[in-house]
Amino acid sequence: MLIGKPPDIQSSEITSPDQYAQYLDRRRFLRGAAAAGAAALGVARLAEIFDPGLRAQAGTKLETVKSPLTTTGEPLTSLEDITHYNNFYEFGVDKADPAKNAEALPTRPWTIRVEGKVKTPKTFDIEALLKLRRLEERVYRHRCVEAWSMVIPWVGYSLSEFIDQCDPLPSAKYVQFLSYYDHKVEKWASGQAISWPYSEGLRMDEAMHPLTLLTFGLYGQVLPNQNGAPVRIVVPWKYGFKSAKSIVAVRFLEKQPPTTWNDQAANEYGFYSNVNPNVDHPRWSQKVERRIGQPFYSQRRTTLMFNGYADQVASLYNGMDLKRNF
Ligand code: MTE
Repeated sequence: MLIGKPPDIQSSEITSPDQYAQYLDRRRFLRGAAAAGAAALGVARLAEIFDPGLRAQAGTKLETVKSPLTTTGEPLTSLEDITHYNNFYEFGVDKADPAKNAEALPTRPWTIRVEGKVKTPKTFDIEALLKLRRLEERVYRHRCVEAWSMVIPWVGYSLSEFIDQCDPLPSAKYVQFLSYYDHKVEKWASGQAISWPYSEGLRMDEAMHPLTLLTFGLYGQVLPNQNGAPVRIVVPWKYGFKSAKSIVAVRFLEKQPPTTWNDQAANEYGFYSNVNPNVDHPRWSQKVERRIGQPFYSQRRTTLMFNGYADQVASLYNGMDLKRNF
């Protein structure tokens, strides 16, 4: 779906891939220079003290092809905002916490366990997953239930390509995703009332929809830890919490799985959680959203049904009462 470039956004605010490459080069140069100085001073990791966000930006490039499923026309949110305004409760509850703390996440070695209603349970190594299909760049709108949004150039391939390798049985009606959890690594998690690991789920037809992305990167580089390295789910027509980060297990199930935010407050966070401006959150409206990184006078956006992906996904919910199944 095409959305015109809003007139209130200066082209100077858009990060092009070239600007992005320059940005990375500049950061690497600064990091190198700072590290050399630090070595001379005998002070370890001086660069990281000045800019903790650097720690999580491995900067490793990924080969990508353009995807026909990309959404074009809207300015991309800057890398800085995408990587410094996060929800990743295992690393703290403030938006700035994951950029500071997620370097603790060990992203190699990494495997995904496949279990439940499958022909044979299997384990996939991240290196094999990275090579399974050509990685595509897909620009998607990213809408959080808290009524803020971004536009992110993700890198990955359709989750369906992975599911095909898992050989699910016909009895598999739902898929559950479980995130990495180690209370010694994610020491910010234990003080919270959440029962870990973070769990999310989709109906099988939602998981098989071509827009649902198995995601390995953003802005042409591997996922920064705070965005869910080394592999996460992205479901662009649903509120962001449906997109589990740093997944280590995929379970195929007959019944709808329990999910983290639904367990926390079932009346606030439904299982479906499709972006829907006509169904308000009990504590706030979902009709509008704030686009992160825009000047305050142009941040307000009208929220689109299914986050703007209605053409592609509305038919999945034919005959369903979307107010009841929110
Ligand atoms: N996955 C895990 N494991 N832990 C989390 O706290 N937060 C969710 C989702 N996935 C979360 C998670 C929420 S609420 C949102 S809005 C998105 O991740 C945020 O993704 P981003 O930080 O890359 O923007």
